[in-house]
Amino acid sequence: MSDKAEIKVNGSSYELPLVKGTEDELAIDISSLRAQSGVITIDTGFKNTGSTKSAITFLDGEKGILRYRGYPIEQLADQSTFIEVAYLLIYGSLPSASELSDFQQKITTHTLVHEDIKKLLDGFPSTAHPMGVLSSLVTSLTAFYPQSLDPNRPEEEVEMSIIRILAKMPTFAAWAFKNQMGHPVNYPDNSLDYCSNFLKMMFALPTEKFEADPVVTAALDKLLILHADHEQNCSASTVRIVGSSQASLYASISAGINALWGPLHGGANQAVIEMLENIRKDGGDTKKWMAKAKDKNDPFRLMGFGHRVYKNFDPRAKIIKKAADDVLEKLGVNDPVLDIAKGLEREALEDQYFVDRKLYPNVDFYSGIIYKALGIPPEMFTVMFALGRLPGWIAQWKEMSENKEPIGRPRQVYVGANSRDYVPVSKR
Ligand code: CMC
Repeated sequence: MSDKAEIKVNGSSYELPLVKGTEDELAIDISSLRAQSGVITIDTGFKNTGSTKSAITFLDGEKGILRYRGYPIEQLADQSTFIEVAYLLIYGSLPSASELSDFQQKITTHTLVHEDIKKLLDGFPSTAHPMGVLSSLVTSLTAFYPQSLDPNRPEEEVEMSIIRILAKMPTFAAWAFKNQMGHPVNYPDNSLDYCSNFLKMMFALPTEKFEADPVVTAALDKLLILHADHEQNCSASTVRIVGSSQASLYASISAGINALWGPLHGGANQAVIEMLENIRKDGGDTKKWMAKAKDKNDPFRLMGFGHRVYKNFDPRAKIIKKAADDVLEKLGVNDPVLDIAKGLEREALEDQYFVDRKLYPNVDFYSGIIYKALGIPPEMFTVMFALGRLPGWIAQWKEMSENKEPIGRPRQVYVGANSRDYVPVSKR
């Protein structure tokens, strides 16, 4: 097979190299096309454009495959822990027992945040969405650790930034929730594991002894694993592109949090539960809402359905659907929105509109139902996604930096006004 592609533009042919991935994916390297021909390529929304070569996550949207560093998501969700998966994503291989305990220990000893960060938190009104608070607190780390801003920071500094952000993010997330509730914050408890510590900071009351329910801790750990990376999605690409200007890890992650916030990306989990609640309050007529989703004159979309890359099924959704059933049963929760969700899924899978467009439930369709059962309120759902996605963002940022990728700077096709002379306001 040839390792070249030929592109014909206005009768002239140009040869371009083909790039092959380890899973035999083929790409045309168009980086020399403009120099050769004066022509650029355009692909709004990057629907068919690879922005990088990456060794972190493989996904095949047609076959519903997702692997972190080669390991299938099903095996990791079933047998691993979030901290181990974080190590795997960030450093590229599964840790030995001592590497894992060392990593865990380092994270545990950096959970506390500078007391002045609490003053920043106090400045936010309780109406502040926790995602805005989270991204602000993450950016604020640049002020407390200014050495992280140095583009020539030594490797040990990068390593410390990685540990600090992993350790402090649960504290920030729980504090963003407390701020919204108008409650005093809880400080981290370093005798606990990652998830139990987070749950304690979220839910412990000063007057009662708190012990996280192991069912809740296990479900949370699984959800975090399932969200941990997803190759070049909107937020990961944002993290890489911000980082490509040599911005610090904290600034890049903060940008990723903001990219995740929108309802078409991570914000979908909050939107799903709100949609399901609305359908329930409206009498539970799923057919009516299905019709709205298909109506091109109605902006309503079936939230939690469809995906840019999964055109068969989202393997994460499969695991989450089962986990939702398990968790609700174990916790003895009977949530009517679960039945609405299952009804909608059944109808959509048989509906020609959804079948033709290959629209299937995505990771966010059932995750909100579990979060709700765990006692986490809807405005916190996307924060939970961010907590899970953090190791992926770190891994993407680290890979981009280590590969010394050039600054991200797309081109455009200009479609505005041609050159024209300025007319003073008095003559307009
Ligand atoms: N409900 C109804 N119609 C839909 C939906 C939906 N949820 N999703 C896509 N479509 C239709 C869309 O109208 C279009 O139809 P047509 O070809 O007739 O114009 C077609 O399907 C293709 O949609 P698209 O918007 O061009 O596809 P995209 O790849 O640009 O968008 C998506 C992908 C996830 C943004 C979109 O499916 C969507 O808005 N879904 C709902 C939001 C959601 O659940 N987002 C979470 C994604 S998973 C978490 C994550 O990783 O971010």
